Amino acid sequence: MRLISNKKRVILRGVIFTTFNEFVENEFGYETLDYILLQGEFPNDGGFCAGETYNPAVLVEMLQHLSAKTDIEMNSLWYKYGFYAFTSLVTQFREIYDDKESPIFNDNVFDFVEQLNIMHFTELKKIYPNAQFPRFGIEREDDQITLIYSSEMKLHHFVKGLLSGCIHFFDEPLELSMTINDDPQNTFSKFTIKRR
Ligand code: HEM
Repeated sequence: MRLISNKKRVILRGVIFTTFNEFVENEFGYETLDYILLQGEFPNDGGFCAGETYNPAVLVEMLQHLSAKTDIEMNSLWYKYGFYAFTSLVTQFREIYDDKESPIFNDNVFDFVEQLNIMHFTELKKIYPNAQFPRFGIEREDDQITLIYSSEMKLHHFVKGLLSGCIHFFDEPLELSMTINDDPQNTFSKFTIKRR
């Protein structure tokens, strides 16, 4: 999978890396994390710092080693990481936010997803002024919400995992589906979350 296309993105927040290491350790064990970190020359020997930034290619490299080690294909690993990351990120950020009106404290899937752009671009921008967050096209109806994801990062399966993790976190009877438009000139994915 090519993470970075023609427009090169050179940074990703450290929290995405620290959360990834936590994911590997919790889901596959400390030995697997250790194994991965020994496979390449990672910044600070893999001791990432949440407040720093790193090259997204480093994350892809770690996923490739994890895939080789576990025999799980890359898209499934992105999904699993996204699923894990939702609960972890919400929990970490809820601890540092005082403002209970923030979208991070939304208490159901439709409200949370509807305000994803506000959460990334208004709230998280305050902490990470130069981060390049994804912008979603979002449409909410009574019984479903659709989300269009388009980013040079092309993390479709990660987004699917995050949305699935969100449904799991709020424990609601909802169904998620994804379609990917793979046209190289216009790659995007569409997600639909429907009430059962
Ligand atoms: C359903 C929930 C979420 C979705 C679908 C989502 C999606 C994404 C995606 C796809 C990226 C990678 C950037 C890109 O593709 O252009 C990203 C980055 C990021 N997201 Fe979210 N996210 C979700 C929830 C959260 C939560 C709950 C937090 C923390 C409270 C969070 C914090 C971040 C941060 C810090 C980055 C890194 C940006 C950077 O370093 O450039 N996200 N998100």
